Amino acid sequence: MTNENFPAEIIVALDCLTGEESLRLAEDLGPGLSWVKVGLELFTREGPSIVRTLKAEGYHVFLDLKFHDIPATVSGAVRAAGETGADLVNVHAAGGEAMLRSACDARPPHARVIAVTVLTSERAGGEVVVERALLARECGLDGVVCAAAEAAAVKRACGAGFLCVTPGIRPAGGARDDQARVATPAEAAAGGADLLVVGRAITRAPDPRAVFERMQEEIREV
Ligand code: C5P
Repeated sequence: MTNENFPAEIIVALDCLTGEESLRLAEDLGPGLSWVKVGLELFTREGPSIVRTLKAEGYHVFLDLKFHDIPATVSGAVRAAGETGADLVNVHAAGGEAMLRSACDARPPHARVIAVTVLTSERAGGEVVVERALLARECGLDGVVCAAAEAAAVKRACGAGFLCVTPGIRPAGGARDDQARVATPAEAAAGGADLLVVGRAITRAPDPRAVFERMQEEIREV
């Protein structure tokens, strides 16, 4: 069920870190690290240069800024996100059809644009997630961010090639923190998730590389 263009992979969320710390962490995770995520915290602190630096280091970058504004503003923001070299950019599906269509029209040639359905920190996902995923597909977007447990339903509704990016990933028995809809890496990969976003379970671990490698192993065994 994995998207043919993206084998199931881990994206490490470089949250709660400075630019320097995030580059060090990425390096410490070793050669198996291909994808990193720059979110609101890191982007607000460091600006677009952190995306350019990570790209120059050879990483694929998911720029997770969840644009949600009027259509003209969102299309400008998506275009600007593309100028940083980011490979994956997102908007919030709650922005509605016109906003999603403008995001799609502004899609940079080298990047994919996906839509956040319902935040994984919110309890209720369910039908709204599939409805928003269908809307995003209709508007021409490349996929969605959803909880791992919703990936299978999204793939059934939108097709195997529709990208499912799933945050809320925790090792079995790991702390949920502020996330409500969580899954282990194996559960997410088995459900059809293409890219698994993992932040604190790796970034706050005493040995981040060991956790990262264990999670990669877990995915490979599915
Ligand atoms: O630390 P943790 O693994 O919970 O981090 C999850 C990351 O994924 C955070 O950077 C958060 O902003 C992001 N995210 C999310 N839920 C979404 C979209 C993005 O948790 N729906």
